[in-house]
Amino acid sequence: ENTCAMILAAGNGTRMGSKRSKVLCEVLHKPMINWVYENCTGAGIHNICVVVGDETGDIQSSVKEITNVAIQAEKKGTGHAVQCGLSFLEENIGKDVLILFGDAPFQESHVIQNAYCVHKDEDNAMTVVSATVTNPYGYGRIVRGNGKVKNIVEEKDASDDQKRITEINAGACWYKIEALISALKELTPANAQGELYLTDTLTILRQKGYSVGAFDAQDPNIVLGANTREQLARLNQIAKEMVIKKLWADGVDIPITDGIIIGRDVHIGTDTKILPGTVIIGNTTIGESCMIGPNSYINDSQIGDNTHVKATWVSQSVLEDDVQIGPFSQVRPNSRLCSGVRIGDFVEIKNAVVGKDSHASHLTYIGDTDCGERVNFGCGVVTVNYNGKDKNRTTIGNDCFIGCNTNLVAPVTIGDGGYTAAGSTVTIDVPQDSLCIARAREVIKTDRAKKFKKEK
Ligand code: UD1
Ligand code: MG
Repeated sequence: ENTCAMILAAGNGTRMGSKRSKVLCEVLHKPMINWVYENCTGAGIHNICVVVGDETGDIQSSVKEITNVAIQAEKKGTGHAVQCGLSFLEENIGKDVLILFGDAPFQESHVIQNAYCVHKDEDNAMTVVSATVTNPYGYGRIVRGNGKVKNIVEEKDASDDQKRITEINAGACWYKIEALISALKELTPANAQGELYLTDTLTILRQKGYSVGAFDAQDPNIVLGANTREQLARLNQIAKEMVIKKLWADGVDIPITDGIIIGRDVHIGTDTKILPGTVIIGNTTIGESCMIGPNSYINDSQIGDNTHVKATWVSQSVLEDDVQIGPFSQVRPNSRLCSGVRIGDFVEIKNAVVGKDSHASHLTYIGDTDCGERVNFGCGVVTVNYNGKDKNRTTIGNDCFIGCNTNLVAPVTIGDGGYTAAGSTVTIDVPQDSLCIARAREVIKTDRAKKFKKEK
């Protein structure tokens, strides 16, 4: 309750070569601004103002929880960005504010919390998070005298001696709001970049007699930000390793990590094996003893125990326990494959429920369908869900047998135990335990083939 945060996200994507804001560039398929926002809320801070440029809409549609924005129309530096959020600071006088940069996704919640403890214990007006890195190039250097923090010097303003300093400004900082407001008023662009540097508030506050400090976060990765695509790829690599290490510790079997991307919100149970070329992202949960991959993609889906997903695409759907699917199939949004379902190759399922122990082994489309238990779909079945104008549903009861190459023209219902003959185009409801044959009667012309051959 006594804290709030401001996230600076107004910089543009020039160095990133992007038409969109830099902070929307993704690490493990999640925009950096979402990482930063979640780090903040994960630390228990919910009163957050985001400083954005012109691309407000994009950032707000990426982080739905944002309620408070300040606009920085012209980019005149990090200090100027904070000045643009002055009214937010004034509304929160008496509290401490955390300033974070939207391009540094690894300032984890525990770092934010530990820095806050030091900030309070030392009764500082400003506590900057620092880290010691092997290559400090490009970062603001923490200049100390008698062990105490004296100054932060940006790369472009640093002397040769200062450039050798390896303790750097990680880009997260706690302030007493009154002290910050008073220091903001005194910022000047008297530096190599002609900008208002937020980092200059440290010297200003010290000169005003306030106590300032640094919290050394130890972990050199937390400082990493991305200004370029190459740095973004590096962040992805580091994030990927962090996630996989955690999964290994949880007993997930990832024998080879090639081509594997797993989002940080994904939960996977023990003894599940993840094979190369597999991407699992979004709000996805996978149970125990599953086999996922090789070459599968799963997003925003829930998967039970002992399920196999082979070379298959699954999106916004549920696969219960003991399901087998693939290779080369697709489960599109809003589908549920109940336990024991078997789906083979080249099967597409969309907005459909496939009941317990039902099978569709090859070349089938099941769309907008409610299908019961123990149903068998022969090869080449199509639910004809679209008439060019409306989408209609198909209903299939329990214990049905849908013959090969059946078209089920929706809306249509097959009652429990109903059968369709191979090659039928079914447009009327099939009652319980009935067989529907909807195809021309065959005729045999004896020796007619022989006659044709002779005529040739
Ligand atoms: C900044 C710090 C540096 C620190 C480094 C850590 C300053 C002056 N320098 O440098 O000490 O080591 O981060 O990553 O603070 N932004 C705005 N408006 C602006 C400029 C920037 O909103 O006018 C936002 C950007 O979107 C970005 C963040 O502030 O998310 C940091 O800006 P950036 O230009 O990346 O600063 P660095 O050069 O990385
Ligand atoms: Mg940066």
